[in-house]
Amino acid sequence: MRPVIADLPASKIREVANAGLQRGGDVLAFWFGESDEVTPLAVRQAAADSLARGETFYSHNLGLAELRAALAGYTAALHPPVDTDRIAVTSSGVSALMVASQLLVGAGDEVVAVVPVWPNIAAQPAILGAEVKRVPLKPVQGAWRLDLQALLDAVTPRMRVLLVNAPNNPTGWTLSRQEQRAILEHCRRTGTWIVADEVYERLYFGSGEAPASASEKSPPLVAPSFLDVATGDDRLVVVHSFSKSFLMTGWRLGWLVLPRGMADAAGKLIEFNSSCAPVFVQRGGLAALASAAHTVPALVRRLRHCRDTLLAGLQALPGVEVAVPAGGMYAFFRLPGEDDSLALAKRLAVDHGLGLAPGAAFGPEGEGWLRWCFASKDPARLEQGLQRLRQALRL
Ligand SMILES: Cc1ncc(COP(=O)(O)O)c(C=O)c1O
Repeated sequence: MRPVIADLPASKIREVANAGLQRGGDVLAFWFGESDEVTPLAVRQAAADSLARGETFYSHNLGLAELRAALAGYTAALHPPVDTDRIAVTSSGVSALMVASQLLVGAGDEVVAVVPVWPNIAAQPAILGAEVKRVPLKPVQGAWRLDLQALLDAVTPRMRVLLVNAPNNPTGWTLSRQEQRAILEHCRRTGTWIVADEVYERLYFGSGEAPASASEKSPPLVAPSFLDVATGDDRLVVVHSFSKSFLMTGWRLGWLVLPRGMADAAGKLIEFNSSCAPVFVQRGGLAALASAAHTVPALVRRLRHCRDTLLAGLQALPGVEVAVPAGGMYAFFRLPGEDDSLALAKRLAVDHGLGLAPGAAFGPEGEGWLRWCFASKDPARLEQGLQRLRQALRL
Protein backbone atom coordinates (compact mmCIF):
# COMPACT_ATOMS: atom_id res chain seq x y z
CA MET A 1 0.00 0.00 0.00
CA ARG A 2 1.18 3.56 -0.61
CA PRO A 3 2.55 5.02 2.63
CA VAL A 4 0.34 8.11 2.26
CA ILE A 5 -2.73 5.86 2.45
CA ALA A 6 -1.41 3.88 5.41
CA ASP A 7 -0.76 7.19 7.18
CA LEU A 8 -4.25 8.62 6.63
CA PRO A 9 -5.70 9.32 10.06
CA ALA A 10 -8.92 7.58 11.05
CA SER A 11 -11.86 9.93 11.65
CA LYS A 12 -11.78 11.35 15.16
CA ILE A 13 -15.50 12.11 14.90
CA ARG A 14 -16.14 8.40 14.28
CA GLU A 15 -13.92 7.57 17.25
CA VAL A 16 -16.14 9.67 19.52
CA ALA A 17 -19.36 8.36 17.95
CA ASN A 18 -18.26 4.74 18.27
CA ALA A 19 -17.41 5.30 21.94
CA GLY A 20 -20.69 7.14 22.58
CA LEU A 21 -22.88 4.62 20.77
CA GLN A 22 -21.63 1.83 23.05
CA ARG A 23 -23.43 3.64 25.83
CA GLY A 24 -26.78 2.62 24.34
CA GLY A 25 -29.69 4.67 23.06
CA ASP A 26 -29.42 7.67 25.33
CA VAL A 27 -26.94 9.82 23.43
CA LEU A 28 -27.96 13.16 21.98
CA ALA A 29 -25.95 13.00 18.75
CA PHE A 30 -24.77 16.33 17.37
CA TRP A 31 -21.44 14.96 16.16
CA PHE A 32 -22.05 14.48 12.44
CA GLY A 33 -22.64 17.22 9.90
CA GLU A 34 -26.23 16.45 9.07
CA SER A 35 -29.70 17.49 10.07
CA ASP A 36 -31.99 15.03 11.83
CA GLU A 37 -34.80 16.09 9.45
CA VAL A 38 -35.78 13.61 6.76
CA THR A 39 -35.65 14.68 3.08
CA PRO A 40 -38.94 16.39 2.03
CA LEU A 41 -41.59 13.99 0.78
CA ALA A 42 -41.78 15.46 -2.75
CA VAL A 43 -38.11 14.65 -3.27
CA ARG A 44 -38.46 11.11 -1.98
CA GLN A 45 -41.58 10.65 -4.12
CA ALA A 46 -39.76 11.80 -7.27
CA ALA A 47 -37.06 9.19 -6.67
CA ALA A 48 -39.65 6.49 -5.92
CA ASP A 49 -41.58 7.39 -9.11
CA SER A 50 -38.36 7.19 -11.11
CA LEU A 51 -37.67 3.71 -9.80
CA ALA A 52 -41.28 2.69 -10.43
CA ARG A 53 -40.87 3.85 -14.06
CA GLY A 54 -37.84 1.58 -14.33
CA GLU A 55 -35.15 4.25 -14.50
CA THR A 56 -32.49 1.87 -13.34
CA PHE A 57 -29.82 2.48 -15.99
CA TYR A 58 -26.61 4.51 -16.36
CA SER A 59 -26.93 8.17 -17.28
CA HIS A 60 -24.53 10.53 -19.06
CA ASN A 61 -21.24 10.95 -17.14
CA LEU A 62 -22.06 14.63 -16.52
CA GLY A 63 -25.62 13.96 -15.38
CA LEU A 64 -29.12 14.17 -16.87
CA ALA A 65 -29.45 17.07 -19.31
CA GLU A 66 -32.55 18.28 -17.38
CA LEU A 67 -30.66 18.32 -14.10
CA ARG A 68 -27.67 20.18 -15.54
CA ALA A 69 -30.05 22.76 -17.05
CA ALA A 70 -31.95 23.07 -13.75
CA LEU A 71 -28.66 23.57 -11.89
CA ALA A 72 -27.66 26.30 -14.33
CA GLY A 73 -31.04 27.96 -13.68
CA TYR A 74 -30.64 27.55 -9.91
CA THR A 75 -27.17 29.11 -10.10
CA ALA A 76 -28.46 32.01 -12.21
CA ALA A 77 -31.09 32.81 -9.56
CA LEU A 78 -28.29 33.36 -7.02
CA HIS A 79 -25.29 34.48 -9.08
CA PRO A 80 -24.34 35.68 -12.56
CA PRO A 81 -25.60 33.12 -15.09
CA VAL A 82 -23.46 30.10 -16.02
CA ASP A 83 -23.89 28.02 -19.17
CA THR A 84 -25.27 24.51 -18.69
CA ASP A 85 -22.13 23.06 -20.24
CA ARG A 86 -20.14 24.33 -17.24
CA ILE A 87 -22.08 22.06 -14.83
CA ALA A 88 -21.05 18.50 -13.93
CA VAL A 89 -23.30 16.39 -11.69
CA THR A 90 -21.38 14.20 -9.24
CA SER A 91 -22.22 11.44 -6.78
CA SER A 92 -21.92 13.73 -3.71
CA GLY A 93 -20.07 16.87 -2.71
CA VAL A 94 -17.08 14.85 -1.52
CA SER A 95 -16.90 13.20 -4.93
CA ALA A 96 -17.11 16.65 -6.58
CA LEU A 97 -14.15 17.70 -4.43
CA MET A 98 -12.21 14.59 -5.42
CA VAL A 99 -12.89 15.15 -9.12
CA ALA A 100 -11.74 18.77 -8.69
CA SER A 101 -8.49 17.58 -7.09
CA GLN A 102 -7.99 14.90 -9.75
CA LEU A 103 -8.48 17.52 -12.47
CA LEU A 104 -5.89 19.86 -11.02
CA VAL A 105 -3.43 18.12 -8.71
CA GLY A 106 -0.70 15.56 -9.31
CA ALA A 107 2.08 13.96 -7.30
CA GLY A 108 4.59 16.51 -6.04
CA ASP A 109 2.31 19.53 -6.61
CA GLU A 110 1.91 22.05 -3.83
CA VAL A 111 -1.50 23.24 -2.68
CA VAL A 112 -2.72 25.59 0.04
CA ALA A 113 -5.74 24.98 2.27
CA VAL A 114 -7.42 27.45 4.63
CA VAL A 115 -7.89 25.61 7.94
CA PRO A 116 -9.36 24.36 10.24
CA VAL A 117 -11.57 22.64 7.72
CA TRP A 118 -13.58 19.51 7.07
CA PRO A 119 -10.73 16.98 6.92
CA ASN A 120 -11.55 15.43 3.52
CA ILE A 121 -10.76 18.70 1.74
CA ALA A 122 -7.09 18.60 2.69
CA ALA A 123 -6.80 14.79 2.62
CA GLN A 124 -7.82 14.39 -1.04
CA PRO A 125 -4.87 16.25 -2.62
CA ALA A 126 -2.58 14.48 -0.16
CA ILE A 127 -3.97 11.13 -1.37
CA LEU A 128 -3.05 12.22 -4.90
CA GLY A 129 0.52 12.85 -3.75
CA ALA A 130 0.40 16.63 -3.36
CA GLU A 131 1.95 18.53 -0.51
CA VAL A 132 -0.66 20.50 1.45
CA LYS A 133 0.34 23.74 3.13
CA ARG A 134 -2.10 24.90 5.81
CA VAL A 135 -2.96 28.57 6.35
CA PRO A 136 -4.80 28.91 9.66
CA LEU A 137 -7.76 31.09 10.47
CA LYS A 138 -7.25 32.65 13.91
CA PRO A 139 -9.86 32.87 16.67
CA VAL A 140 -10.52 36.32 18.14
CA GLN A 141 -12.96 36.07 21.07
CA GLY A 142 -14.40 32.91 19.56
CA ALA A 143 -14.79 34.34 16.03
CA TRP A 144 -12.44 32.91 13.41
CA ARG A 145 -10.74 35.42 11.15
CA LEU A 146 -8.63 35.22 8.03
CA ASP A 147 -5.24 36.92 7.93
CA LEU A 148 -5.62 37.86 4.27
CA GLN A 149 -2.02 38.94 3.85
CA ALA A 150 -0.74 35.67 5.33
CA LEU A 151 -2.90 33.76 2.84
CA LEU A 152 -1.74 35.84 -0.12
CA ASP A 153 1.88 35.41 0.99
CA ALA A 154 1.38 31.62 1.06
CA VAL A 155 -0.07 31.54 -2.46
CA THR A 156 3.10 31.80 -4.54
CA PRO A 157 3.40 30.86 -8.24
CA ARG A 158 4.50 27.39 -7.03
CA MET A 159 1.04 26.78 -5.61
CA ARG A 160 -1.17 24.82 -7.99
CA VAL A 161 -4.41 25.13 -6.04
CA LEU A 162 -5.94 27.12 -3.22
CA LEU A 163 -8.63 25.16 -1.36
CA VAL A 164 -11.07 27.32 0.53
CA ASN A 165 -14.34 26.36 2.20
CA ALA A 166 -16.63 29.27 3.12
CA PRO A 167 -19.04 29.27 4.91
CA ASN A 168 -16.60 27.07 6.75
CA ASN A 169 -17.09 23.74 8.44
CA PRO A 170 -16.39 23.77 11.41
CA THR A 171 -15.92 27.46 12.31
CA GLY A 172 -18.80 29.20 10.48
CA TRP A 173 -16.30 31.72 9.10
CA THR A 174 -17.35 33.23 5.78
CA LEU A 175 -15.36 35.15 3.18
CA SER A 176 -16.29 38.75 2.40
CA ARG A 177 -16.72 39.94 -1.17
CA GLN A 178 -13.58 42.13 -0.83
CA GLU A 179 -11.53 39.16 0.38
CA GLN A 180 -12.78 37.08 -2.54
CA ARG A 181 -11.78 39.80 -5.00
CA ALA A 182 -8.32 40.14 -3.45
CA ILE A 183 -7.80 36.36 -3.48
CA LEU A 184 -9.00 36.01 -7.07
CA GLU A 185 -6.82 38.87 -8.33
CA HIS A 186 -3.81 37.41 -6.52
CA CYS A 187 -4.45 33.91 -7.91
CA ARG A 188 -4.77 35.37 -11.41
CA ARG A 189 -1.25 36.77 -10.98
CA THR A 190 0.26 33.54 -9.58
CA GLY A 191 -1.63 31.22 -11.96
CA THR A 192 -3.11 29.33 -8.99
CA TRP A 193 -6.44 27.52 -9.26
CA ILE A 194 -9.14 28.20 -6.67
CA VAL A 195 -11.24 25.26 -5.54
CA ALA A 196 -14.09 26.91 -3.62
CA ASP A 197 -16.20 24.60 -1.48
CA GLU A 198 -19.47 26.51 -1.23
CA VAL A 199 -21.73 23.68 -0.08
CA TYR A 200 -23.03 25.86 2.79
CA GLU A 201 -23.72 28.95 0.67
CA ARG A 202 -27.50 28.78 1.30
CA LEU A 203 -27.11 28.06 5.03
CA TYR A 204 -26.18 31.67 5.54
CA PHE A 205 -27.71 33.96 8.10
CA GLY A 206 -26.02 37.22 7.15
CA SER A 207 -24.98 39.57 9.83
CA GLY A 208 -28.35 41.23 10.46
CA GLU A 209 -31.52 40.23 12.23
CA ALA A 210 -34.01 37.66 10.97
CA PRO A 211 -36.45 39.18 8.46
CA ALA A 212 -39.79 39.95 10.10
CA SER A 213 -41.76 38.06 7.50
CA ALA A 214 -40.76 35.39 5.05
CA SER A 215 -41.67 37.13 1.82
CA GLU A 216 -40.89 34.84 -1.08
CA LYS A 217 -40.22 37.93 -3.17
CA SER A 218 -37.20 39.04 -1.15
CA PRO A 219 -33.95 37.97 -2.84
CA PRO A 220 -32.55 34.72 -1.49
CA LEU A 221 -29.98 35.11 1.25
CA VAL A 222 -26.78 33.60 -0.01
CA ALA A 223 -23.16 33.77 1.16
CA PRO A 224 -20.67 35.64 -1.04
CA SER A 225 -19.54 33.31 -3.81
CA PHE A 226 -16.46 33.31 -6.02
CA LEU A 227 -18.92 32.96 -8.90
CA ASP A 228 -20.01 36.56 -8.25
CA VAL A 229 -16.53 37.97 -8.86
CA ALA A 230 -14.98 35.54 -11.39
CA THR A 231 -15.54 35.04 -15.11
CA GLY A 232 -16.09 31.74 -16.89
CA ASP A 233 -12.45 31.80 -17.97
CA ASP A 234 -10.94 32.10 -14.50
CA ARG A 235 -9.15 29.18 -12.89
CA LEU A 236 -12.05 28.53 -10.54
CA VAL A 237 -13.86 25.31 -9.66
CA VAL A 238 -16.87 25.63 -7.34
CA VAL A 239 -18.01 22.59 -5.36
CA HIS A 240 -21.63 22.03 -4.37
CA SER A 241 -23.79 19.44 -2.68
CA PHE A 242 -27.47 18.59 -2.32
CA SER A 243 -26.73 17.27 1.17
CA LYS A 244 -27.05 20.33 3.35
CA SER A 245 -29.51 22.83 1.80
CA PHE A 246 -31.88 20.11 0.61
CA LEU A 247 -31.60 17.66 3.54
CA MET A 248 -30.22 14.95 1.25
CA THR A 249 -27.06 13.67 2.96
CA GLY A 250 -27.80 10.01 2.32
CA TRP A 251 -28.55 10.51 -1.38
CA ARG A 252 -24.97 11.27 -2.43
CA LEU A 253 -25.54 14.00 -4.99
CA GLY A 254 -23.43 17.06 -5.75
CA TRP A 255 -22.20 19.17 -8.62
CA LEU A 256 -19.32 21.23 -9.92
CA VAL A 257 -19.34 24.60 -11.65
CA LEU A 258 -16.33 24.51 -13.96
CA PRO A 259 -14.58 27.04 -16.16
CA ARG A 260 -15.57 27.03 -19.81
CA GLY A 261 -14.25 24.03 -21.72
CA MET A 262 -13.47 21.82 -18.73
CA ALA A 263 -16.61 19.73 -18.30
CA ASP A 264 -15.59 17.04 -20.78
CA ALA A 265 -12.41 16.40 -18.81
CA ALA A 266 -14.49 16.21 -15.61
CA GLY A 267 -16.78 13.73 -17.39
CA LYS A 268 -13.80 11.52 -18.17
CA LEU A 269 -12.82 11.49 -14.51
CA ILE A 270 -16.38 10.87 -13.34
CA GLU A 271 -16.31 7.78 -15.60
CA PHE A 272 -13.45 6.42 -13.48
CA ASN A 273 -14.99 7.41 -10.13
CA SER A 274 -18.69 6.51 -10.18
CA SER A 275 -19.43 6.72 -13.97
CA CYS A 276 -22.56 8.74 -13.17
CA ALA A 277 -24.95 9.57 -10.35
CA PRO A 278 -27.94 7.17 -10.16
CA VAL A 279 -30.84 8.42 -12.28
CA PHE A 280 -33.46 8.12 -9.53
CA VAL A 281 -31.20 10.16 -7.24
CA GLN A 282 -30.88 12.79 -9.95
CA ARG A 283 -34.71 12.86 -10.26
CA GLY A 284 -34.80 13.55 -6.52
CA GLY A 285 -32.32 16.37 -7.12
CA LEU A 286 -34.59 17.83 -9.82
CA ALA A 287 -37.54 17.79 -7.41
CA ALA A 288 -35.40 19.45 -4.72
CA LEU A 289 -34.46 22.26 -7.09
CA ALA A 290 -38.08 22.67 -8.21
CA SER A 291 -39.15 23.43 -4.63
CA ALA A 292 -35.97 25.22 -3.51
CA ALA A 293 -37.56 28.69 -3.50
CA HIS A 294 -39.86 27.53 -0.65
CA THR A 295 -37.91 24.83 1.13
CA VAL A 296 -34.50 26.46 1.50
CA PRO A 297 -35.66 29.75 3.10
CA ALA A 298 -37.90 27.74 5.45
CA LEU A 299 -34.96 25.50 6.41
CA VAL A 300 -32.75 28.55 7.00
CA ARG A 301 -35.44 30.04 9.29
CA ARG A 302 -35.55 26.81 11.32
CA LEU A 303 -31.77 26.66 11.46
CA ARG A 304 -31.54 30.30 12.55
CA HIS A 305 -33.82 29.48 15.47
CA CYS A 306 -31.65 26.44 16.31
CA ARG A 307 -28.48 28.52 16.07
CA ASP A 308 -29.86 31.24 18.33
CA THR A 309 -31.14 28.71 20.88
CA LEU A 310 -27.79 26.95 21.07
CA LEU A 311 -25.64 30.07 21.03
CA ALA A 312 -27.61 31.71 23.83
CA GLY A 313 -26.96 28.65 25.99
CA LEU A 314 -23.29 28.37 25.08
CA GLN A 315 -22.58 32.07 25.54
CA ALA A 316 -23.97 31.85 29.08
CA LEU A 317 -21.27 29.33 30.10
CA PRO A 318 -18.51 30.92 32.19
CA GLY A 319 -15.24 31.39 30.29
CA VAL A 320 -16.49 29.91 27.03
CA GLU A 321 -15.02 31.11 23.73
CA VAL A 322 -17.70 31.14 21.05
CA ALA A 323 -19.08 33.45 18.38
CA VAL A 324 -22.38 33.45 16.51
CA PRO A 325 -21.64 31.79 13.14
CA ALA A 326 -22.71 33.72 10.04
CA GLY A 327 -23.07 30.54 8.01
CA GLY A 328 -23.11 26.75 8.13
CA MET A 329 -24.83 24.66 10.77
CA TYR A 330 -22.24 24.42 13.51
CA ALA A 331 -21.27 26.15 16.74
CA PHE A 332 -17.52 25.90 17.30
CA PHE A 333 -16.59 26.64 20.89
CA ARG A 334 -13.92 26.20 23.52
CA LEU A 335 -14.29 25.57 27.23
CA PRO A 336 -11.76 26.99 29.69
CA GLY A 337 -8.96 24.62 30.74
CA GLU A 338 -9.82 22.00 28.12
CA ASP A 339 -6.97 21.35 25.68
CA ASP A 340 -7.61 17.75 24.60
CA SER A 341 -10.74 17.88 22.46
CA LEU A 342 -10.82 14.15 21.70
CA ALA A 343 -10.70 13.19 25.37
CA LEU A 344 -13.28 15.84 26.25
CA ALA A 345 -15.67 14.80 23.45
CA LYS A 346 -15.38 11.15 24.50
CA ARG A 347 -16.04 12.05 28.13
CA LEU A 348 -19.10 14.10 27.20
CA ALA A 349 -20.43 11.30 25.00
CA VAL A 350 -19.74 8.34 27.27
CA ASP A 351 -20.37 9.87 30.71
CA HIS A 352 -23.02 12.47 29.87
CA GLY A 353 -24.74 11.33 26.65
CA LEU A 354 -23.79 14.47 24.72
CA GLY A 355 -22.35 13.70 21.29
CA LEU A 356 -20.12 16.46 19.87
CA ALA A 357 -17.25 16.43 17.37
CA PRO A 358 -13.72 17.08 18.66
CA GLY A 359 -12.05 20.14 17.14
CA ALA A 360 -8.88 18.13 16.51
CA ALA A 361 -10.80 16.26 13.79
CA PHE A 362 -10.46 19.41 11.69
CA GLY A 363 -6.70 19.68 12.10
CA PRO A 364 -4.32 20.78 14.85
CA GLU A 365 -5.69 24.33 14.50
CA GLY A 366 -9.00 23.09 15.96
CA GLU A 367 -7.45 21.37 18.97
CA GLY A 368 -9.17 22.32 22.21
CA TRP A 369 -12.42 23.23 20.41
CA LEU A 370 -15.68 21.34 20.03
CA ARG A 371 -18.14 21.37 17.12
CA TRP A 372 -21.85 21.13 17.76
CA CYS A 373 -24.15 20.60 14.74
CA PHE A 374 -27.32 22.55 15.53
CA ALA A 375 -29.41 21.30 12.57
CA SER A 376 -32.20 19.72 14.60
CA LYS A 377 -35.90 19.54 13.79
CA ASP A 378 -36.64 19.91 17.47
CA PRO A 379 -34.77 22.79 19.16
CA ALA A 380 -35.76 21.25 22.51
CA ARG A 381 -33.04 18.65 21.83
CA LEU A 382 -30.52 21.47 21.82
CA GLU A 383 -31.83 22.70 25.19
CA GLN A 384 -31.54 19.15 26.50
CA GLY A 385 -27.97 18.96 25.20
CA LEU A 386 -27.13 22.25 26.88
CA GLN A 387 -28.53 20.90 30.12
CA ARG A 388 -26.22 17.86 29.83
CA LEU A 389 -23.26 20.13 29.13
CA ARG A 390 -24.02 22.24 32.21
CA GLN A 391 -24.27 19.06 34.30
CA ALA A 392 -20.93 17.85 32.93
CA LEU A 393 -19.40 21.19 33.90
CA ARG A 394 -21.15 21.01 37.30
CA LEU A 395 -22.97 24.30 36.72
C1 LIG B 1 -17.33 21.63 3.77
C2 LIG B 1 -17.96 20.40 3.22
N1 LIG B 1 -17.80 20.11 1.93
C3 LIG B 1 -18.33 19.01 1.38
C4 LIG B 1 -19.06 18.14 2.15
C5 LIG B 1 -19.57 16.90 1.47
O1 LIG B 1 -20.92 16.73 1.46
P1 LIG B 1 -21.54 15.48 0.70
O2 LIG B 1 -20.45 14.57 0.32
O3 LIG B 1 -22.51 14.88 1.68
O4 LIG B 1 -22.24 16.04 -0.50
C6 LIG B 1 -19.23 18.38 3.52
C7 LIG B 1 -19.96 17.43 4.39
O5 LIG B 1 -19.94 17.50 5.57
C8 LIG B 1 -18.67 19.55 4.06
O6 LIG B 1 -18.81 19.86 5.36
